[in-house]
Amino acid sequence: MTRVFSGIQPTGHLTLGNYLGAMRRWAEVDQHRSDALFCIVDLHALTVDHDPARVCRLSRQAATLLLATGLDPEVCTAFMQSHVDEHTRLSYLLECVATDGEMRRMIQYKEKAARERERGGSVRLSLLTYPVLMAADILAYGADEVPVGHDQAQHVELTRDLAVRFNQRYGHTFVVPKVTLPAVAARVMNLQDPTKKMGKSDESGAAGVVYLLDEPDVVRKKVMRAVTDSGQEVVYDRETRPGLANLLEILAACTDGNPESLASVYDSYGALKKDTAEAVVEVLRPVQARHRELCADPTYVEGVLRDGAEKARAMARPIVDTAYRAIGLLPPV
Ligand code: TYM
Repeated sequence: MTRVFSGIQPTGHLTLGNYLGAMRRWAEVDQHRSDALFCIVDLHALTVDHDPARVCRLSRQAATLLLATGLDPEVCTAFMQSHVDEHTRLSYLLECVATDGEMRRMIQYKEKAARERERGGSVRLSLLTYPVLMAADILAYGADEVPVGHDQAQHVELTRDLAVRFNQRYGHTFVVPKVTLPAVAARVMNLQDPTKKMGKSDESGAAGVVYLLDEPDVVRKKVMRAVTDSGQEVVYDRETRPGLANLLEILAACTDGNPESLASVYDSYGALKKDTAEAVVEVLRPVQARHRELCADPTYVEGVLRDGAEKARAMARPIVDTAYRAIGLLPPV
């Protein structure tokens, strides 16, 4: 059976971008067609300036929301990265295979490092090695596929390179995984600045970010105020009409439609915005309802994470042990 692995960082409140780009597929498709693992990557959240209490709170919230999207712990494995030591164990070995130059070429590293410097902070070494830990997340489970949004594709490419390199040098150890992107909404943009990704840690652009837990009226307001492009006609063109294209993609993703054909249905921006807002509200409604139920039952969520970590550990340990032997480390007696 195909094995799927994906993860999400608890660095902010989860967004419509996370949902349409990744989480929805995990719940609706991936967990049913594969042996799937979904991980809250809390160690990754420590790679930028962080508040310990906030990371802890957001980790719990991310776990609750993941389950609220419909992940079923009977058919998939949901867990916290820091509960399974194999991730950091493997990450070190992969650091011995990766190069400094490769890390510095990563787009997310360049962007996040620049942001940290702009804020007057220093860049943590873990931000540079972030993609190696991500590669370890994936390779530790022998994942065949990694369903993510477009912004993570470069990291999955690097994971493939590291797996191939390790296998060539030390013998076949890792499955070489491939990225899978959603058909639409692989890159949901900020509603106030459609040249920028809708990101969860984007405090400056929060008015353009729809959060999964936004009340329906807040969602409506954000979508109705979305920046659109000059012009009258509703056309789908990401290059010249990015604001409109973003709305059409969101609407298409929420209604299982196609952005090009939807463009021909509308003759005003207002009508498109109104329908997009309602479609988003409807997509979020069941997730929010289930989230309220789960918040009332925190021991259930804790139990899922405990069992998930146990299952994950049992899957990762033999693969990581094999890598330790392959690279030349003496087994403990
Ligand atoms: P993260 O936490 O930024 O995002 C989680 C998932 O949501 C997708 N996503 C988006 N998709 C479309 N439009 C957007 N605006 C948008 N924003 C986020 C992301 O592509 C991702 O799929 N490095 C990863 C977490 C990670 C991981 C892993 C993922 C760590 N280890 C191993 C896969 C496998 C990240 O920061 O995702």
